[in-house]
Amino acid sequence: MEQVLLIPGPTPVPPQVRQAMAAPMINHRGPEFAALFAEVEANLRQILQLPADQSVVILPCAGTGAMEAALVNVFSPQDRVLACIMGVFGARFAKIASAYGLQVDRLEVEPGQVITAQAVQQRLQQAAQEGRPYAGVLVTHNETSTGVLLNLEAIAKVVQPSGALLVADAVSSLGGVPLFPQAWGVDVVLTASQKALMCPPGLGFLVLSQKAWQAAEKATLPRFYWDVRPYREGFAKGQTPYTPAVSLWYGLRESTRLILAEGLEAYWQRHRLMAAMARAGLQALGFTLLAREEWASPTVTAAFPPQGVEAAKLIRWCREEQRVVLAGGQGPLSGKIIRLAHMGFIQPEDVLVGLQALEKALHAQGVPVQPGQGAEAALAAR
Ligand SMILES: Cc1ncc(COP(=O)(O)O)c(C=O)c1O
Repeated sequence: MEQVLLIPGPTPVPPQVRQAMAAPMINHRGPEFAALFAEVEANLRQILQLPADQSVVILPCAGTGAMEAALVNVFSPQDRVLACIMGVFGARFAKIASAYGLQVDRLEVEPGQVITAQAVQQRLQQAAQEGRPYAGVLVTHNETSTGVLLNLEAIAKVVQPSGALLVADAVSSLGGVPLFPQAWGVDVVLTASQKALMCPPGLGFLVLSQKAWQAAEKATLPRFYWDVRPYREGFAKGQTPYTPAVSLWYGLRESTRLILAEGLEAYWQRHRLMAAMARAGLQALGFTLLAREEWASPTVTAAFPPQGVEAAKLIRWCREEQRVVLAGGQGPLSGKIIRLAHMGFIQPEDVLVGLQALEKALHAQGVPVQPGQGAEAALAAR
């Protein structure tokens, strides 16, 4: 029997997507791939509400590859960037930037807190006063390690006039929450296939604004495989410069069709609903939520277990006794929290299953809980 996978990626994949990926190989330089390319691009443009002439670069890589690709294409050695860090993935972005010799300043908050547009603006002004303005601002739209979503639109509003390029890691947000790179003025948006896009891992995505494409012409960090310029040449032909992960493209065509068939509004609403259910259910079971309601993520919820209960024990019990797979904490939150994902193909019923498993796990550890206590609260939150 299959596990109920409630981790924030890789997330469960719909049967239609799995089936689509079993299709035979095709010539990646032939008309069949060009047709696949055209539909996938059109679907992604619709999901991201991009104009017809703005294509998405699709790379064969994990999210971290897309993060690296984003940086090497638009920056040059010694560029000064502001890394906005709300958790493990924001810290990773800063590390990659440092590895490439960028001058990285950190704007960091405690786990569970959010970075505001105001805080970013302050740092931009300070840098301008110092006469060393930022070439870029790096943000994590949805910090998966803490379950915090920042206000990307508001941040774009303050970054745009500064001249810096805004680079957003949307690995655990894109698809599951509204995100309009062009309308908001986000210069580079990157994501990966294995979260709210309902595909297996293995594809990375980059959306570049006109300003970012211009920056890509001038940037001098070393790059070859990640260089986006040869991708641009392939857009018209429906080809990628190097062999694409064809099977994953088949899966992506199907998963993007499914998202559009559900309807973007409905898809986002399902994510918001599941987040509300998870938050209410966990609280009813005695968990303490890590993120405040105002910036709580629609795709993943992080919470501390009731006093005296070990997070790792709960997670193990759920996996071994209920086949329900939850995630633990990362970095400074390692061993301290549980994370319950609610994105992509995960359904509201799965959130209930997750809460029921946790309830039984608490009961098994001698915590007094009423049967149905978490699920009832979750249902009431709908
Ligand atoms: C926000 C965010 N950024 C980057 C990554 C890294 O992605 P990957 O593990 O595919 O390299 C993750 C993975 O969970 C993520 O959640």
